[in-house]
Amino acid sequence: MCGIVGYSGDKMATDIILDSLIRLEYRGYDSVGVAIVNHDIVVYKEKGQVSQLRDLVPSIDGYTGIGHTRWATCGVPSSENAHPFKSMDGRIALVHNGIIENYLDLRKELSAQGYEFSSQTDTEVLVHLVHRYMDGDLHMALRRALQDVRGTYAIAAVEFGSDRIVVARKENPLVIGVGMGENFIASDVTAILEHTSDVIYVMDGETAVISPEEIHLFSPEGQEIKREVNRITWTSEDAKKEGFEHFMLKEIFEQPKTVRDTLVCYLDGLEASDILPPVSPSSVTIVACGTSYHAGMVGKYAIEELANIPVTVELGSEFRYSSGTDNKPLVILITQSGETADTLAACREARRRGCHTLAVTNVLGSTITREADSVIMTKAGPEISVAATKTYTAQLVSLYLIALKLALNRGAIDEMGLRELKAQLRSLPTLIERVLDRADSLQDAVEVMSRAQHAFFIGRNINFPSMLEGALKLKEISYIHAEGYAAGELKHGPLALLDPDTPLVAACLRDHTYEKMISNVTEVAARGSPVLIVASDGDEQVHLLTDHVIFVPRCPPLLSPVPLAVLLQLLAYHVAKAKGMPIDKPRNLAKSVTVE
Ligand code: F6R
Repeated sequence: MCGIVGYSGDKMATDIILDSLIRLEYRGYDSVGVAIVNHDIVVYKEKGQVSQLRDLVPSIDGYTGIGHTRWATCGVPSSENAHPFKSMDGRIALVHNGIIENYLDLRKELSAQGYEFSSQTDTEVLVHLVHRYMDGDLHMALRRALQDVRGTYAIAAVEFGSDRIVVARKENPLVIGVGMGENFIASDVTAILEHTSDVIYVMDGETAVISPEEIHLFSPEGQEIKREVNRITWTSEDAKKEGFEHFMLKEIFEQPKTVRDTLVCYLDGLEASDILPPVSPSSVTIVACGTSYHAGMVGKYAIEELANIPVTVELGSEFRYSSGTDNKPLVILITQSGETADTLAACREARRRGCHTLAVTNVLGSTITREADSVIMTKAGPEISVAATKTYTAQLVSLYLIALKLALNRGAIDEMGLRELKAQLRSLPTLIERVLDRADSLQDAVEVMSRAQHAFFIGRNINFPSMLEGALKLKEISYIHAEGYAAGELKHGPLALLDPDTPLVAACLRDHTYEKMISNVTEVAARGSPVLIVASDGDEQVHLLTDHVIFVPRCPPLLSPVPLAVLLQLLAYHVAKAKGMPIDKPRNLAKSVTVE
């Protein structure tokens, strides 16, 4: 997983490329490099982050170039394995995002023909292959080279003596930014928003040739094609920190707005909208990975409660191993990036099985928006922090809307119920604001959690997945080993691990699970573990069980995962901050997981 950018225009390319790469670091940040076309092709690459490379790169007189920020998949992070790679004659440079599956065979073949390799990567075979087929036309050489390749890619290549950038895409994102006398390429629009809001999406199998004045797009068969220019409504300000110490905190605080924006888009016209297929499904399967999977689990409870339709939730990476069903359920694929390889593979498999696929995603033009039968866009805006926050709550809102729409389609909700639920949904932004207002009250909980090496999170019913998500958030940014459990499962094994150094975070909200949750917590408190209760406002009784209580505003149980998510995001953030962790870029993780 990596980020690629390219520039060809009337300005010096180096700074534009380095600035754009910084905005792509969420896709990977263990090494970085640029290639600028000058009287030669000048390549600078280094292990580390863009800021480290910037210190090394002198001012280079060049107006065309490409850059890459890497997250190692094939070969350790090192300057040798960093992109761009140059051909042996130094006339071609290339960057790549994806995986070349048959690279070992190709490497052997190319070595036998005299090509020398300086890295352990799969990418280096690409530059030598392109060189092998180069006969004066870089675009033709790249197209020919790709015929030998098995795998996935977004590729950008430049050649000595030319202001053209040649690109190709298969199952990895790539957009062309359209400017005046300058054009761009990037893995993601946020990288180039500073310069242009007009983009052309490159689709699977397509290639393109970009120069300062021209963009030529080619079909997989090599025919030149025309594609409309899309205007992006996200601004470059949306992708900046705006005074917050970290993107994660900024994104947590944006949630009243992002939840409202997502609701506004669909709630009013829900009865007449066609977001779902007209035929009411007899079952629903939700497929997703990571945080999106937890949103899917919340969605299961919501759909079953409101629409009374059975729901199965599957991990993207496991869906292919499940048996095909005969009744062709509605398959909902949740992926904020729209590029997660496992979720995309599940989408293809679901379509192959004849299911209607509905994608819930945050990125317009992402692969899933083109592959699913229908799409619901969450309106969270660009999420830069690797840990998902605002996209998660926007996903929850979308799933409530889907549940409501399914209920409407089946006549499972009456006029009054509908009005009531819509009003409750509209109150979510205010509920979130009330959680954000009390961020300071987390101090005691932060101290308890920061001392721990292990922690458990428990909940029941719709807040069981909320606690899985709370544990995931904590572990990914604070590196504390945290596990989420259905509260009833503790006594079936994990209880053996609880001791005075292992805190338990328990969601004991005033709903139908309250009494059972209190019993579970009592069991743990008796074993001397520090217990941190998340309680409903005004529930003073929980102080009898523990000194460590954080309160959330009361709300209908069905919607409680939203304020609870925000609270647990804040907890994870402040614990990670207290421990001095690199919050926006946790080690080994990247924002968009485009490998299976
Ligand atoms: C955790 C996180 C990941 C993603 C997962 C799926 O904070 O962000 O667990 O949720 O990689 O990503 P998407 O939603 O892009 O498919």
